[in-house]
Amino acid sequence: MCGIVGHVASTPSQRSREVVLAGLARLEYRGYDSAGVALVDADSLHVHKAVGKLANLVDLLDTAEVAPALSGIGHTRWATHGRPTTANAHPHTSMDGRFALVHNGIIENADALREKLRGEGVVLASETDTEVLVHMLARAVDDPQVPAWEGDVAGIAPQHHDTARAMVGAMRHVAGRIDGTFTLLLVCADAPDVVVAARRSSPLVVGLGQGENFLGSDVLAFVEHTSTAVEIGQDQFVAVTATAVTVVDADGSVIASPKTYEVDFASDRATKDGWPTFMEKEIHEQPRGVADTLADRLDSLGHLTLDEVRIPEHVLRTIDKMVIVGCGTASYAGQVARYAIEHWCRIPVEVELAHEFRYRDPVVTEKTLVVAISQSGETMDTIMAIRHAREQGAKVVAVVNTPGSTISRESDAVLLTHAGPEIAVASTKAFTSQVTACFILGLYLAQVRGNKYVDEIQDYLEKLGKLPDQIQHVLDGGETVRQAARVMKDATSVIYLGRHVGFPVAMEGALKLKEICYIHAEGFAAGELKHGPIALIDEGQPVIIIVPTPRRPELHNKVVSNIQEVRARGARTIVVAEEGDSSADEFAEIVFRVPPTPTLYAPLLTVVPLQIFACELATVKGLDVDQPRNLAKSVTVE
Ligand code: M6R
Repeated sequence: MCGIVGHVASTPSQRSREVVLAGLARLEYRGYDSAGVALVDADSLHVHKAVGKLANLVDLLDTAEVAPALSGIGHTRWATHGRPTTANAHPHTSMDGRFALVHNGIIENADALREKLRGEGVVLASETDTEVLVHMLARAVDDPQVPAWEGDVAGIAPQHHDTARAMVGAMRHVAGRIDGTFTLLLVCADAPDVVVAARRSSPLVVGLGQGENFLGSDVLAFVEHTSTAVEIGQDQFVAVTATAVTVVDADGSVIASPKTYEVDFASDRATKDGWPTFMEKEIHEQPRGVADTLADRLDSLGHLTLDEVRIPEHVLRTIDKMVIVGCGTASYAGQVARYAIEHWCRIPVEVELAHEFRYRDPVVTEKTLVVAISQSGETMDTIMAIRHAREQGAKVVAVVNTPGSTISRESDAVLLTHAGPEIAVASTKAFTSQVTACFILGLYLAQVRGNKYVDEIQDYLEKLGKLPDQIQHVLDGGETVRQAARVMKDATSVIYLGRHVGFPVAMEGALKLKEICYIHAEGFAAGELKHGPIALIDEGQPVIIIVPTPRRPELHNKVVSNIQEVRARGARTIVVAEEGDSSADEFAEIVFRVPPTPTLYAPLLTVVPLQIFACELATVKGLDVDQPRNLAKSVTVE
C-alpha cells in the first residue's frame, strides 16, 4: 500500500525526475489515489503533486519548468488518513519548505502528535498522519536539544555533512516518538545530495547503481537500473548519496557490511510487453511461473531441495501440526496445498486467514510449522501472524515471490515462487506458483519425514513437471472462455461451486470477479449447496461449477448431481470439466475443458479459465483491469 521511490545523482540533471517517475510507474500497483514528487536542486526543493493516476502527475510535470536536480523522492498513494486530494498527497513539506517527506505505513499516535504540534504553533495543511512527521523532523533538525548523529555520512559534500548528520539524528529522534509502521524518505534543500530514510515494519530496499543510488518500496522501483539491492532491516536508518549507502542501527552504530542480494527479475518482466493489460500478460506467464518454481529442485542424489532452510531436519521430523497463513489469493493457494500436504505427509494442516490467526489465541508450539504464503512478502497481516507464531516457538517457512521481502527475512526457511513480478492487482500467476511451491514443500517434508521414498517423490515431481504444458494448452483454448464472459457481461451475481480441491478454486474464481468486475460473486463448497446456498438460485442465475475428474467418481458424481440441481432451478451453468468427460454437457450452457491431471494438481488448470473469464468480463465492461477501484496490490497496513 503506497509506493515510494528515491534517487540520488552525482550531478544535477533531469535524471532524478525520470528515475522517480519511472519507479512510481512500476509501483503504481501499490496505490493510485494520487502521486507526487519532491526534486532537490542545488539549493531549493520543488514539490509537484496531482490527484488520481500517475499519468496526471506526468502531465503536470511535462508542462512545468523542472530545474536539474541532485536528488528526488516520489510517492504513489493509497489513501488511509484523509481523502485523495492534492493537499493529502505526498510529499509533505515543512512550514519553511526546506524539508519534504514521503511515507508508507500508518502512524497510530498521529492525533496526539498533531495536537502537540498545533499547541506549538505549527499549521498543518493536510488531514494525513504523515504530515505531523515532516514538521517533527524539521523541528528536530533545528533543535539543539536533539543530538545530530555522530557518525560519518559517506559520499556527501563536506558542506552538507552537518545537515545530513542532523537529518539522521532527527530521524532517530522522531522514530522513537511514533507508534505504528513506517518507511520514510526525507530530503532537505540544505543537503541536496542525500536522501535519509527509516523503516519499521514497512518495506524499504536500496538499489546500488554506478554513480547513483536508488531507494524503493520494492526492487521494482529501480530494477531497470540495477539488479543489486541492499536489505534495510527493521528499525534501521539509511543515508543514501550518489556513491555510498550508510546504514545505521537503532543504537546509532553503522552496519559495516549490510546484506546485499541480486534481484533476478528481468526488467522486461515488469512491462506489459505488448499485452493490453498486466493481468492478461500474467495469466499467460503461468506456464513459465510454474516451470521456474519447479526448476532445479533436485540435488545430485535426487533429493528435493528448498531455497533457504534454517530449520534442521530433526526439527522438521518432530512437527506435529502445520498452519498455513495468508490473505486473499494466497490463502486460497494454502487451502489447495492442505489437501496435498495432509495426504502426502500425514500431518494435520490448518489454513487460517493471517489477520484472524493471532486473535483467536491459536494453539501453536515448537512442534508447529507455520507456512506464510505471500506474493509481495510485505502483507502486514501475514507479517504479524508470523511474528506471533515465532513468539510461541513455532518455525516459519515463507513461500514468497519477492526475494529480500520482510516475510522472507523474518522466516526460518524460504521457498521462492519464481513467478516474476506480478503487477496487476488481481493475483493470477502468483496463485499457480504458490500452489506449486506448496506442493514442493509438501514433497520435501514427505522426504525428510520418510513418508515417501525418493523414487515416489520423483514420480510426483515428474507429473508436476507436465503442468506448464497443460496450462499452456488451457490458455490456447481461452477463446471459449472469452466468449462466455462476453455473454455474461450483464450478470450482477455469479455463484461458483467446487468440491475437494475445487472448493478453494471456486473461491479464487469468485474473488477475481469481485475485485476486477465489481460483480457480487461467492465460491461455495458444492456439498454445502443444499444446506443453504441453493436458495439463491433463480431463473438465469449464472453458476460456474468445477467438476472433479471422473477418475474420482466419489467426488465427480456428486458435483454432476449439483449441476443438475441448479439447472433444474433455472441456473445458467458454466462448467469446467476434464477433456473426455461429457457427463455434464447436457446440463451445461458452456463447457471449458482442461487436460486430465492428478486430482491434487487440477487447481493449477481449473483456475486458469476462471482468471480469463474475469479478465475478459472486466475488459468488456470497460473497467480498469489492472488497477481496480479501492484496492492496492500490497496491503502493507493492518
Ligand atoms: O502479497 P500477498 O500475496 O500477501 O497478498 C495477499 C492478498 O492481498 C492478495 O492475494 C489479494 O487477495 C489479491 N488482490 C487477490 O487477487
